[in-house]
Amino acid sequence: MSATPSHTQGLGEQESIWFKLTALHKGSNPNPMHVLQQLTERHGGVIVVNMGNERVVFLSDPEHFKRVLVTKVDDYIKYFDGLKPIFGKSMITHDGALWQKIRMPQQPAFHPDMFAEYIPYFLTAIRSKMDGWAELARTGEPVEMVEQTWTLAADMICKALFDRDMPFNPHFVFKCVKTYTDVMNHKSVRLKKVSGAEFEITEEATAKAMEVWASVPPAVIAANPREERERTLLTMIEAAVADPTIPEFDRQQAVDELKQYLWAGTETTALTLAWALYETSRRPEIAERIRREGDEVYGNAGREPEAADYSALAYTRAVIQETMRMYPPIWGLIRIAAKDDVIGDREIKTGDRVVMFAYGTHHSAKYWQDPESFMPERFMGDAAKKRKPYTYIPFGGGKRSCIGGAMSQVENTLALSMLLRRFQPEYVGNEFAPADQHPGINATVTLTPRGGLNFRIRQLS
Ligand code: HEM
Repeated sequence: MSATPSHTQGLGEQESIWFKLTALHKGSNPNPMHVLQQLTERHGGVIVVNMGNERVVFLSDPEHFKRVLVTKVDDYIKYFDGLKPIFGKSMITHDGALWQKIRMPQQPAFHPDMFAEYIPYFLTAIRSKMDGWAELARTGEPVEMVEQTWTLAADMICKALFDRDMPFNPHFVFKCVKTYTDVMNHKSVRLKKVSGAEFEITEEATAKAMEVWASVPPAVIAANPREERERTLLTMIEAAVADPTIPEFDRQQAVDELKQYLWAGTETTALTLAWALYETSRRPEIAERIRREGDEVYGNAGREPEAADYSALAYTRAVIQETMRMYPPIWGLIRIAAKDDVIGDREIKTGDRVVMFAYGTHHSAKYWQDPESFMPERFMGDAAKKRKPYTYIPFGGGKRSCIGGAMSQVENTLALSMLLRRFQPEYVGNEFAPADQHPGINATVTLTPRGGLNFRIRQLS
């Protein structure tokens, strides 16, 4: 077995910050983010909490985000305990000169000029998902929406960025990844160990899940190209491997970069689209406006959207942006202080874990009018220009900000527009709450719906 027990249990070990933060879920709290938010409102923008043997500093002031992400960026390094099996040694985990050497050759694949090239491949993946939904509408079978959008996002990345059809079963891989990243699951694993019940079996399942995950990138690399396109992210990565001036970018680096994209580019994009479908299913007037916009921009002309249409889908894009405000997939950005510092009037010590609490700032009445209301209009017109910097950070900020943020908005805007024009997905509730109540949130590495988002798909006539 290639994965070691310390890795397989990494996220759920008592030492991992992810495990420590599961304390927020105490008493089956349906939204642990509210606990943190109330703390920040009561105690201010810098809260220091002693958690076991380390100090965790929660920041929620945009000025402090700027300090950590931009002004003092080199003094705060990345934190990846427990996530190594997911990311390997890909660039997202590195700092300094090495990070820069690895990011540079890949950057051109994410330039906005490339999006027009990618759109036909996004559309192919969306059409294939729509064929699946037509069948689901016919049978009436319920579906879990995060799994649906995860498999769509993985298909879009494979086709557009790697020039490959998915050489793996995305539903199976999705379940494997979730087995590992669901920290609450790890917690129950640990409790089972304490009580002496079936621990070995669960550990085996977790190790197996990560073994499957490790096999995915080599399968993608080995698969036949769909069209032998010359300029893709994968060809850029292969060119970097062949480049003697960057010996650090070896074959294993290439495999790990793919691992990173298949998680960072699918999980976050998928959660955003799934939450957007949840919000629009509760608000028919928003879904109708998205449909009307789709008709006006491309549907009435009897065609599919093209690159030039993306900017015209302003309302649909605003729905995606508002979804990322309400449900930032990366709810907290974590760093380790590499030097002593002072933030606000608090001392930061070398080794402190610093959590930039994006969810808190996105939901603060200091920066957003009526923050708990879903209002896409906040993102229309010149609203962004009036916004205080660093109050909206779904993609982080500064030089370590998301490489695929702009591209993900193209993917999700097109997907939301096309899916809603043909279907009416109906949220049906889950094991924790009926359909008319919010499903609640699990704040693990990402902000996931507690118990999933179950839907029935109805096809519009
Ligand atoms: C809604 C969609 C997405 C969200 C919310 C999101 C969020 C983020 C955030 C917050 C970071 C910075 C983390 C930090 O500073 O600690 C990040 C980094 C990153 N994201 Fe995304 N992301 C999304 C989509 C994508 C896509 C589509 C890709 C690629 C296909 C991608 C690839 C990456 C990579 C490679 C990094 C690391 C960049 C570096 O360290 O240089 N993300 N993302």
